[in-house]
Amino acid sequence: MCSSAELPKYDRHQSYEWNYERTPSPVSFDIPDVAGDWSFCGLPVDSPLGIPAGPLLNGRWCLYYASLGFDVVTYKTVRSKARECYAMPNLQPVECDQVSDGITELPAASTMKGTWAVSYGMPSMEPDVWRADVEATRNKLPQGKLLSVSVVATVQEGWTIDDIATDYAMCAKWAVESGADVVETNFSCPNVSTCDGQLYQNPDAAQQVADCVRTAVGQIPYIVKIGHVPSRAAAADLLDALSTSTSAIAMTNSVATQVRDGTHLLFDGQRRGICGQAILDASLDQVSIFRQLIMERKSDIELIGVGGISSATDVQRYLAAGANACHLATAAMTNPGIAMQIRSSLEAAH
Ligand SMILES: Cc1cc2nc3c(=O)[nH]c(=O)nc-3n(C[C@H](O)[C@H](O)[C@H](O)COP(=O)(O)O)c2cc1C
Repeated sequence: MCSSAELPKYDRHQSYEWNYERTPSPVSFDIPDVAGDWSFCGLPVDSPLGIPAGPLLNGRWCLYYASLGFDVVTYKTVRSKARECYAMPNLQPVECDQVSDGITELPAASTMKGTWAVSYGMPSMEPDVWRADVEATRNKLPQGKLLSVSVVATVQEGWTIDDIATDYAMCAKWAVESGADVVETNFSCPNVSTCDGQLYQNPDAAQQVADCVRTAVGQIPYIVKIGHVPSRAAAADLLDALSTSTSAIAMTNSVATQVRDGTHLLFDGQRRGICGQAILDASLDQVSIFRQLIMERKSDIELIGVGGISSATDVQRYLAAGANACHLATAAMTNPGIAMQIRSSLEAAH
């Protein structure tokens, strides 16, 4: 067994396919307890810690991170059709302390300092492949760990919002039939140009899709993943649109900017989602705003805090801001032992 310092992890210098194939095996460490009673969308869990959609490319990655002390593992966003990953770089480090309002561009960095631009385009295996994989993964996942599956529509030319909703709902239903404990729809991907990537900015369309998904999945916990919302008024409209269908809202997917390397813009000048430490403050602010709105409405929608979490202090700040759960992508990819470190710190602070 390896020590926590030498745990295998995603290699950003290799392709998505390379990392998909080379999955670490689950480890057996003593995982520190987190004091308190925790639940996720009404289901009991041992801690507020989880992995959001993205880092876990398939079921074996889910099993590995579950063994590292994460209690909710999210299977990377899948589709009704196979889709290839964008060309490398898929993970481009950037220089940034904290993103600020109106930021449009960030400089590329040569080494990873906690923040990167993410450029995958939501690749997916064929449904037959991911459905069988979800089923096998749920069967192998220990009791008490939850498997969430993230889905997105694959928009075709000429599709109406009805078509988009139907495609989302079909994928969500397949995920549930395959054994997912929780299903998530991604309404925010800054890296795709189709409207599924911006649904969270259109409350009417978001409501139509979310209602359709809810009808398809029955009573199972259902999460909507959203991006960076520009104002309190926009947050209120979105919350109201999702109130009849959604168990929880996960935020924040990322903050989109262009990335400059010297004199030229990377990614053909298109914006990419900035993820990691630099979105901590913006995501925390957004969680606070949604929590206030939820309290005003006496709603029971839960909030999943995502964005820039890399320490027990960050977890405590999210919980204080009103998050019910805290999910880590970037920090968990660069430091797979982080859940154990956070759990130890939370235990010591108790
Ligand atoms: C490698 C990578 C891939 C991602 N892919 C997805 C995805 O497929 N679907 C999704 O909803 N979010 C995706 N995300 C966004 C994360 O779920 C998360 O919202 C974001 O990384 C912010 O969290 P962090 O600051 O802890 O990284 C991805 C993020 C990373 C780093």
